[in-house]
Amino acid sequence: MTTRHILLIGFMGTGKSTVGEQLARNLNYAFVDLDAEIVKQVGRTIPDIFAQDGEVFFREQESRILARLLRDRTRLLVIATGGGVVLDEANRKLMREHGAVIQLTAAEETIVQRVSQDRNRPLLQGDAASRVRKLMLERQGLYDFAHLIVPTDHLTVEQINERIEAHLVNEKAY
Ligand code: S3P
Repeated sequence: MTTRHILLIGFMGTGKSTVGEQLARNLNYAFVDLDAEIVKQVGRTIPDIFAQDGEVFFREQESRILARLLRDRTRLLVIATGGGVVLDEANRKLMREHGAVIQLTAAEETIVQRVSQDRNRPLLQGDAASRVRKLMLERQGLYDFAHLIVPTDHLTVEQINERIEAHLVNEKAY
């Protein structure tokens, strides 16, 4: 067993939290949802943090909490990150160094469908479809540092995790 954590990255609505929770159960790792951890530590919801403190403050908290989790050598974690964690180059470097990085992808239409009724994602309020398109363009390439990419559109959570687990076994990552 190595000391590598497992990180799920990907755009909003690609299923990181759902997949991560089950993956952690399967592997007997602890599960951390980075957004939920930020909410817990800051004491406000994500929309409230964005509205009251701004995105820069949110990103600072995100980077700080991610770094602390990754340096924790006392337990192995599956971490479901927020879609914007890849914006910071230092975060990308840290994730690759400290973990097996798995990128979940989905087609733009799938993402729009999954997130359109969502009030919890401040960056998608208003016209969700055009915001998704704009953000996906802006973030093109930023998720590509992952060790494995899994397209989620036509797979169940179980199938996604089978692929991830097969990769981890091959890489002797856990
Ligand atoms: C964000 C994604 C969200 C959350 C915040 C910002 C982003 O997480 O961190 O709303 O910039 O892509 P999910 O990817 O879990 O929705």
